[in-house]
Amino acid sequence: MAAARGSLTVLVLAAGQGKRLRSKTIKLLHPVAGRPMVSHVVATARALRPARLITVVGHQADGVRRALDGDVRDFVLQRQQRGTGHAVLQAAGKISFASTATLLIVNGDLPTLRTSTLRRLLDRHRRGKAALSLLTAEPTDPSGYGRIVRDARGRVERIVEHGDATAAERRIREINCGIYCAKPSALLRVLRRVRPDNKQGEYYITDAVRALLERGEQVCAVTHDEAEEVLGVNTRQELALASATLHARAAERLQNRGVTLVDAGSTRIDPAARVGRDTVIHPGVTIEGSTVVGEDCVVRQGCRLVDSRVGRGVEIKDYSVVLESRIDDGAQVGPFAHLRPGSHLGRDSRVGNFVELKKTSLGRGSKANHLAYLGDATIGAECNIGAGTITCNYDGERKHPTVLGRGVFIGSDTQLVAPVSVGDGAYVAAGTTVTADVPEGALAIGRARQRNVLGWAAKRKRRKKTGKR
Ligand code: UD1
Ligand code: MG
Repeated sequence: MAAARGSLTVLVLAAGQGKRLRSKTIKLLHPVAGRPMVSHVVATARALRPARLITVVGHQADGVRRALDGDVRDFVLQRQQRGTGHAVLQAAGKISFASTATLLIVNGDLPTLRTSTLRRLLDRHRRGKAALSLLTAEPTDPSGYGRIVRDARGRVERIVEHGDATAAERRIREINCGIYCAKPSALLRVLRRVRPDNKQGEYYITDAVRALLERGEQVCAVTHDEAEEVLGVNTRQELALASATLHARAAERLQNRGVTLVDAGSTRIDPAARVGRDTVIHPGVTIEGSTVVGEDCVVRQGCRLVDSRVGRGVEIKDYSVVLESRIDDGAQVGPFAHLRPGSHLGRDSRVGNFVELKKTSLGRGSKANHLAYLGDATIGAECNIGAGTITCNYDGERKHPTVLGRGVFIGSDTQLVAPVSVGDGAYVAAGTTVTADVPEGALAIGRARQRNVLGWAAKRKRRKKTGKR
C-alpha cells in the first residue's frame, strides 16, 4: 500500500561553528572529497525532491550561502547559535504545518549520508504514527555523540548528549545520528518549551524526544546498520575519514562501469567527476571537481586534473597538472606538463615535458614538445613550437595576445613579444626575438649574425702561458 504523501520540507542545520576542528573556517565549509561539507548534505537531501529545502545559517553565513549557491535559495539566519532546537525554531515561519506535511531535519555535518537512507527513514515515518522518527546507529566508538536511552522493554525514552551523560549512559553504544522526520506541529510545539538546562546551556533538538513522549506522542527510532555512513564529522580525523569514504565510493562506482584503477587506494576521484570505459588511471592520480575524462584514456602516475574535460584516447603522462582546461581526442600531454586555466588542446596535439600553457589553445595536430611557456596564445593547426619558446605576454601591466596561423614553425628558443602574430606557414628561425608581425609564408630571423674567429682557442692558450693579455 502506498503511504500517504504530504508535502516534504527539508531543513539543513548549518549555523554552527564546529569548534572541535580548531579551525578559522567553520566546519561545514571544510572540503570533503573536493566540495564543502554542507553541499554534500544538501545534494543528498535535494535528491528527495522536497517541496522546500531550507538551510539554517549563522556562523560565516555568507560563506555557506556561497557554497550552496544555485542549490539552495531558502536560507534562514540563526543570529546566535543557541543549539539545534533553537536552530529549527528559526525556520518555523517557513515550514508547512498541514497535518500531512513532513519535516525532515538533517545536521549539516553528514557528508557521507546517502539519499537512500533518508528515503528509508522518510518511508518508515510516513507509514507509522510517530510524531518524530529518528535514525540511530551503533558505531564502535560512540563518544561525542548523543546516546539513545531505552527503557527496560527497549523503547526509546530520551536522548542524552555526551557532555551531559553519566558514566553508565556513556557506555550506551546506540547514538543519535542527527537525522529526524517529524510532524511539524507536534515537534515545534514541544521545541518551544525545551529549556537550555544542560552543560552547554543550549536548546537541544534531542530534548524533544522526552517531551513528545511525555505528551503521549510516539517516537520511532530506526537503526542504520552502516554506522560510518551516518556519523557526524566533528574532528579532523573524522574529516579525513569522510573524504576517504566518498573517494572509495566513487572509485568503486567507476570500477563497476569499466574503468581500471591500477591502485584504487592511492587514487582520489571526486564524486562529481566522470571517467569513461576502458580508461586506465595509474597510482597517485587526483581527479577533482566536475572533471570529465573520456573512454580509452591513460592517465599516468601522479597527475592532477581539476574541473577539466578530456576527450577519448588521450594520454596524460606522469606528473602533469591540468586545471580548468579542455583536451580533445587523441592528444598527448606530459610528462611534467602544466595546463593552466583556459587552455585547450586540439585533436591529436601534443604538449611535452616542462611546457606550461595558460589561456592558450593549440590547434589540431600541433606540437609543443619541450620546455616552453605559451600564455594568452591562439595557435593554429599543425604548428610546431620549438623547445624553449616563450610568449612574452606581459608588459608589467597588461597581458597581450599571440596569434599563430596554420602550419607555423617556431624554431627553438624563440621569444614572441606580444601582441604579435605569425601568419600561416611562416617560419621563425631558432633564437629569434619576434617583435613584429610575421607575414604568411615568411621567414623571420632576428639574431646577431655569427662570426667564427679561426684559431682563437690556441691563441688563448698561448696568452695564458706567457701571461700577456
Ligand atoms: C548533534 C546531536 C547529537 C548527535 C549528533 C550527531 C544535538 C543537541 N545533538 O550533536 O545527539 O549524536 O549531532 O552527529 O542536536 N547547528 C546549528 N545551530 C546551532 C547549533 C548547531 O545550526 O545553534 C548545526 C551545526 O552547524 C551542525 C548541526 O547543527 O551542522 C549539529 O551540530 P553539532 O554541534 O555538530 O552537534 P553535535 O554536538 O555533533
Ligand atoms: Mg556534529
